[in-house]
Amino acid sequence: MKTLFVTGGAGFIGAHFVRYWLSANPQDSIITYDALTYAGNLASLADVIENHTGRHTFIQGDIRDKEQLVELFKHYRPDYVINFAAETHNSRAVLSPTLFFETNVIGTQQLLQAAVDADIPHFHHISTCEVYGDLALKSDQAFLETSAYQPNTPYSASKAAADFAVRAYAKTYQLPVTLSNACNNYGPFQYPEKLIPFFVTSLLRGRNVLIYENSHYCREWLHVEDHCRGIERVLKTGQLGETYHIGSGFERSVQQVADHLLACLGESESKKQPVPDRPGHDRRYLLNSEKIQKTLGWRPQIPFTEGLADTVAWYQNHSDWWEPLVAAAEVREDAW
Ligand SMILES: NC(=O)c1ccc[n+]([C@@H]2O[C@H](COP(=O)([O-])OP(=O)(O)OC[C@H]3O[C@@H](n4cnc5c(N)ncnc54)[C@H](O)[C@@H]3O)[C@@H](O)[C@H]2O)c1
Repeated sequence: MKTLFVTGGAGFIGAHFVRYWLSANPQDSIITYDALTYAGNLASLADVIENHTGRHTFIQGDIRDKEQLVELFKHYRPDYVINFAAETHNSRAVLSPTLFFETNVIGTQQLLQAAVDADIPHFHHISTCEVYGDLALKSDQAFLETSAYQPNTPYSASKAAADFAVRAYAKTYQLPVTLSNACNNYGPFQYPEKLIPFFVTSLLRGRNVLIYENSHYCREWLHVEDHCRGIERVLKTGQLGETYHIGSGFERSVQQVADHLLACLGESESKKQPVPDRPGHDRRYLLNSEKIQKTLGWRPQIPFTEGLADTVAWYQNHSDWWEPLVAAAEVREDAW
């Protein structure tokens, strides 16, 4: 019987993780802690809140609030603290970098300090492939867990600095930590500013798909449920002090994803509208995920075409979830 304290659990991946863990681990309970920024949404947890009253508690709070965190840690005595909380949208980071450093760096450091003060037995931090910078489009390289950090954007720099804070707290204060870097996730409940839901919800609203000029730039795509299973594997069988990559190895360019979505929704090529690239737009990321595959036996299970078709269908059937979000916080992809 384990207790998990999940920060950022009302966001895209965090909410999937909470739902997945409660159903896969029926003895365990979860405290979801989330500031409910524009990206946090209790509607993403509605079924969890309804079906798991005894095993799930939601607390609204900010990872920068160390005092509250220490109190909560001492009260709930979690076996795991898992940090998903972050500002996550690259385009917003270009326009408002300070918030990204405040949340992602200072917030993570305050959470780490609270974990030290309350003797948390296992702290897991969620990171990204973007901390390594980018790869040439035509190369057979992939990032290893030991590759140098070379972030290019305010978002990836803030995530990189957070990872260094995790490392420093492990080395200096002997906080038991694990860390995972994942590639681009997709699936239901992803905020409509992110590439796949941005394209899908634009098309569902009869709009054009705004596509950066460098649409041949490439990403590695992972279904969010495969990511959650990977994190579970790291928590249960990973080595403390280690970092694990969680990637699918499945690469598609932005152009290819757009074409796939246009075909899924029966729309024509003319819906693609080029806009100038975001400054610092990385060309390509690819994780080498052999370590988690060989040492922990994790493999992605959901093929991209299947996962993407299900995701498109989910957005078609859940306009009640995404329409208010589009109206509340539309991001300008041509603001530079
Ligand atoms: N989405 C991806 O493709 C991807 C890939 C790799 C890694 N990641 C990482 O996974 C994590 C989750 O990403 P996501 O896509 O679910 O993000 P998201 O933006 O959907 O959710 C972030 C959540 O964090 C909460 N939050 C923000 N600031 C907070 C604060 N100060 N205190 C408490 N809560 C706060 C928000 O309310 C929101 O619920 C992030 O750390 C991100 O860097 C994401």
